[in-house]
Amino acid sequence: MDNTPRPLIAGNWKMHGSNAFAAELAGSLSDKVSNAGHNSFDMLLCPPAPLMGSTLAAIGAASIALGGQDCHSAEQGAHTGDISAGMLADAGCSYVIVGHSERRADHGETDDVVMGKAAAAQTAGLAPIVCVGETLDQRDAGEAIEVVTSQVVGSVPDGSSAGTIVIAYEPVWAIGTGRTPTAVDIEKVHGAIRSAIDGVIGNPGQVRLLYGGSVKAGNAEEILALENVNGALVGGASLKAEEFWAIAQAC
Ligand code: PGA
Repeated sequence: MDNTPRPLIAGNWKMHGSNAFAAELAGSLSDKVSNAGHNSFDMLLCPPAPLMGSTLAAIGAASIALGGQDCHSAEQGAHTGDISAGMLADAGCSYVIVGHSERRADHGETDDVVMGKAAAAQTAGLAPIVCVGETLDQRDAGEAIEVVTSQVVGSVPDGSSAGTIVIAYEPVWAIGTGRTPTAVDIEKVHGAIRSAIDGVIGNPGQVRLLYGGSVKAGNAEEILALENVNGALVGGASLKAEEFWAIAQAC
């Protein structure tokens, strides 16, 4: 029996789109997923919060999940501009990205903060997608594996198990740049993450480890075939239905 986790192809729209855009993109993907019948992957769309209603409406009955791009660690309270995990669940989400490097950099999010968000997500019944990744300076200094594994250990809540957490390796220098690590480097880091979660997460072999950073239709097949790569977190290329669908088809 094939024991590898079912791949997850996640689209992170970041701060892009409009209701009309969401309706068109999610509608087109919904048609593709439904027409394909049986798919060998799970698809997830993470639009900006105000576009969730139109995205969900366009998904309709298709088997596509909805996710947030961030959440607060508190259940509710005086946190102007923030969104709780419970609100995301109420809006129809089943996942939420936490600790994306853009949040770590723009909002000073530490591993502790990310762990709090991931725990809040789990309490609300969402699977957090915990993002980790080294900067170019850290890679050049030979510290990539140390940095990434320490982020994993520092950001994953106690008591997590394969069904309640997803981890995404996204080298900061590969995001939106068109550059990707070599296949060997991706396998090295994913292998190190898999070892790091052994003993930290229940059923570690079944945890989905996504790769993210300049995934495109042209490199998806090679990346998704690598050992310990169980899907992709896609930014820019998830904003075009044909390109995102081609990435999913590479599973
Ligand atoms: P990219 O972004 O695919 O545009 O590089 C990935 C991400 O930041 O999740």
